[in-house]
Amino acid sequence: MSESKKSATLAINGDSFELPVYSGTAGPDVIDIRKLYAQAGVFTYDPGFTSTASCDSTITFIDGDKGELLHRGYPIDQLAEKSHFLEVCYVLLYGELPSAAQLEDFENRVTRHTMLHEQMMYLFRGFRRDAHPMAIMVGVVGALSAFYHDSTDISDPWQREVASVRMIAKLPTIAAMAYKYSIGQPFVYPRNDIDYASNFLRMCFAVPAEDYEVNPILSRAMDRIFTLHADHEQNASTSTVRLASSSGANPFACIAAGIACLWGPAHGGANQACLEMLREIGTPDRIPEFIARAKDKDDPFRLMGFGHRVYKNFDPRAKVMKQSADEVLDLLGVEDNPTLQVAKDLEAAALADDYFTDKKLFPNVDFYSGIILEAMGFPTSMFTPIFAVSRTVGWISQWKEMIADPQLKIGRPRQLYHGETLRDYVDIEKR
Ligand code: SDX
Repeated sequence: MSESKKSATLAINGDSFELPVYSGTAGPDVIDIRKLYAQAGVFTYDPGFTSTASCDSTITFIDGDKGELLHRGYPIDQLAEKSHFLEVCYVLLYGELPSAAQLEDFENRVTRHTMLHEQMMYLFRGFRRDAHPMAIMVGVVGALSAFYHDSTDISDPWQREVASVRMIAKLPTIAAMAYKYSIGQPFVYPRNDIDYASNFLRMCFAVPAEDYEVNPILSRAMDRIFTLHADHEQNASTSTVRLASSSGANPFACIAAGIACLWGPAHGGANQACLEMLREIGTPDRIPEFIARAKDKDDPFRLMGFGHRVYKNFDPRAKVMKQSADEVLDLLGVEDNPTLQVAKDLEAAALADDYFTDKKLFPNVDFYSGIILEAMGFPTSMFTPIFAVSRTVGWISQWKEMIADPQLKIGRPRQLYHGETLRDYVDIEKR
């Protein structure tokens, strides 16, 4: 943390306190309140962390007003167009674009960690076939902590590196196995002679009865979806991984905690919820009914895939995703996809409605991703697992940054207490 050159004055209870103010290389200044309770005997209050910086980081920067997303300074639209997922993983993990030799070495290391310990196959057998793939992923990723004891000493940088590569490599295998298990098909092992996205598609859609050729267009679209979901500053699931890891817990178990948080429909589960909403709307003529429900304060319904805590402009990922949706559907010959038509008409109707534009509610990353994934052949239940496969590198990068921070402290928020004050126990005979 750079030395503070500015300060803020807090006047409370007749006293005033000078609080250091720090500036980053971009984004809002922060007021350092670490000594506030000791000095002033008060807490700050911010239940949804809408105005709270939980850490200082160098990985991802979001400007919600400009609709800008940078990974180590590189804008997401350039990375989506010019890079590919494993190179973006390298940038997130190590901070710089790799040389050709560095990239080849990294890709080889990931490729050679894609298989699971053979005994982990038995874990899947314990689940019902109709278990949600996210339930299986939470369980199996957590179980990695029971199999890879040689990469759980987080004080050892080399073991942190091995655990990082293992998780990036094995998440696609686990997600594909969760899918195969849910449809009663045999698991397909990863291959070392095809790229990361192609491997994932092949593990999901190949069957032993025939050869499987990956469609390069679908593989490129899959890779782009992985790239667009890789990291996103201190979102709910990343903050979950950071808080769980702050106790020194097993890294595999902490990633499982991130998967659990991502599952929620307000977060990574929105892609599944969005496609189910578009299907429920069904035809463009029913859009006004759903717009009205989304605006009705007495109706809990919200437009899935709309709105964002940080973006008060377009989510830059949504723009790239919308372009991919058009490309993939055209190439698959499903350009007259009714769900895509409802999505486009719904977006136009919402953006013409003051309720959404006044509240800065625009399509987010989840609005179009489900349409592409459905067109590629995935069931809606696989949308969030795919998000988790991608976000694993973001969780891991943020985890590595936090664990290497010499100022690391266990996360332990306080509270505003409104409960009963001190009172004596009453024996049951006297109640
Ligand atoms: C992701 O944090 C990240 O970075 C997340 C993510 C990532 O990459 O990690 O970007 C991925 O989670 C994207 C968001 C996916 N979720 C959804 O699409 C679900 C639908 N969206 C909403 O649930 C909501 O917009 C949130 C959760 C995304 C954001 O909620 P906030 O910031 O807490 O905003 P809010 O709930 O306080 O809403 C502000 C106002 C409210 O109205 P008022 O009380 O001011 O009158 O906007 C309204 C809300 O009712 N509102 C919506 C709405 N979202 C907010 N109204 C209708 N439809 C919506 N979708």
